[in-house]
Amino acid sequence: MARVVSGKPAVEDAPLDTSLRPHTLADFTGQEQIKENLGIAIAAARARGESLDHVLLYGPPGLGKTTLAYIIAAEVGVNIRMTSGPAIERTGDLAAILTNLKAGDILFIDEIHRLSRVVEEILYPAMEDYALDIIIGKGPGARSLRLNLPKFTLIGATTRYALLSPPLRDRFGSVYRLDFYDPQSIEKIIKRSAQILQVEAEAEGLKEIACRARGTPRVANRLLRRVRDYAQVMADGIITKKAALEALAKLQVDAIGLDDVDHKLLHTIIDKFGGGPVGLETIAASISEESDTIMDVYEPYLLQLGFLERTPRGRLATPLAYQHLGIPYHKEKNNNQPSLL
Ligand SMILES: Nc1ncnc2c1ncn2[C@@H]1O[C@H](COP(=O)(O)OP(=O)(O)OP(=O)(O)O)[C@@H](O)[C@H]1O
Ligand SMILES: [Mg+2]
Repeated sequence: MARVVSGKPAVEDAPLDTSLRPHTLADFTGQEQIKENLGIAIAAARARGESLDHVLLYGPPGLGKTTLAYIIAAEVGVNIRMTSGPAIERTGDLAAILTNLKAGDILFIDEIHRLSRVVEEILYPAMEDYALDIIIGKGPGARSLRLNLPKFTLIGATTRYALLSPPLRDRFGSVYRLDFYDPQSIEKIIKRSAQILQVEAEAEGLKEIACRARGTPRVANRLLRRVRDYAQVMADGIITKKAALEALAKLQVDAIGLDDVDHKLLHTIIDKFGGGPVGLETIAASISEESDTIMDVYEPYLLQLGFLERTPRGRLATPLAYQHLGIPYHKEKNNNQPSLL
C-alpha cells in the first residue's frame, strides 16, 4: 500500500492536487523568502518588458515546486509548457519544444536532473544565447547551423540538486531551495483546502493534521482528505480534534508524522547496527527499499527533525531518535561502535 505520509504524488492526489493548487503568489502560503525574491524578479521583468531569468527550484517532493512554476507563469502573464527530464529522450524532442516557444514563454522541466547529457548540451546555448545549434549531415561533410530562439524562461525543478551538473546549475539566474513548512503554515494551507473541499473543520482538528504532515503541503492535503472521509463515515462530517485523532491513529501516523516505514528505518539503524554509522546501501538492503527512495522520500524529513545525521561513514541515529522511539541511549556504547561500512 502507498504510504499516506509520502511527499511523492499518489494516484489519488492528481485531481485534487490541481484544484487545491494556489494560483497567485499571494495565495501561496509560506516560503516567504522565495516569494519575496520572486515577486521582485517578476515585477522587474514585467516593468522592463523582458523575459524572466531562468529559475531553478529544488527541494523534497510535495513542497510546491510545480505550483510555483504555474504561479510564476500566471504572474508574468505568459504561457507555460510543461515537460520533464525523462520525457525528453532525444535532442530532437527538445529542439521541437524550444522552436515552438513564443517570446516570454516559460518552459518547465520537472526532474531536470534526469535529462540525458546530450540533451543537456543542447540546453546550454539555448539558455545562454537563445540559440539552437543543429548539425546537418554526417561525417566530414556535416555542417553546424545556428537557429535563433525566442527569449524564453526555463524553470527547472528537482528533488536532487546534487545530481545537477555544475554547467547546468550555473546557467540559472536564480536558484531557490524550498524548505519544509512550519506547522502554522501547514495549518493555513489546509484551512484553505478545507474551504475549497467544503468541509467543516475546527481549528483543533486542523492543528492535529498539521503537526503530522511532515511540513509537506501534499501530505497535509492528503491527510485532510482521509480525515474528512473518516469524519463523514464515522462521525457527523465535521473535522474535530477527536475525529482527526481517531482517523490519524487508524492511518498509523504517529504524533510527529512518522509511519511504519520511518520506524522500521530508525529501528534498523538502532537495533541492527548499534545506532550507526551505517551505509545507505546497507540500510536499503535491510529494509528492502531503494536507496534513491530513502534519500528522496524518507531521509529529508528525518534529517530535518534531527533524528538522523549524515556522516562520511554513513547514517547515524541521534539521541532524539532514541528518545522518540523510547529506546534508552547509552552514549559510551554508541560512541564506541566499530565502523560498519
Ligand atoms: N505553499 C503552498 N500553499 C498551498 N498549497 C500548496 C503549497 N505548496 C504546495 N501546495 C499543495 O501541495 C500540492 C503539491 O505541490 P506541488 O505539486 O507543487 O509539489 P512539488 O514540489 O512539485 O512536488 P514533486 O517534487 O512531487 O513534483 C499542490 O497540489 C498544492 O495543492
Ligand atoms: Mg512537481
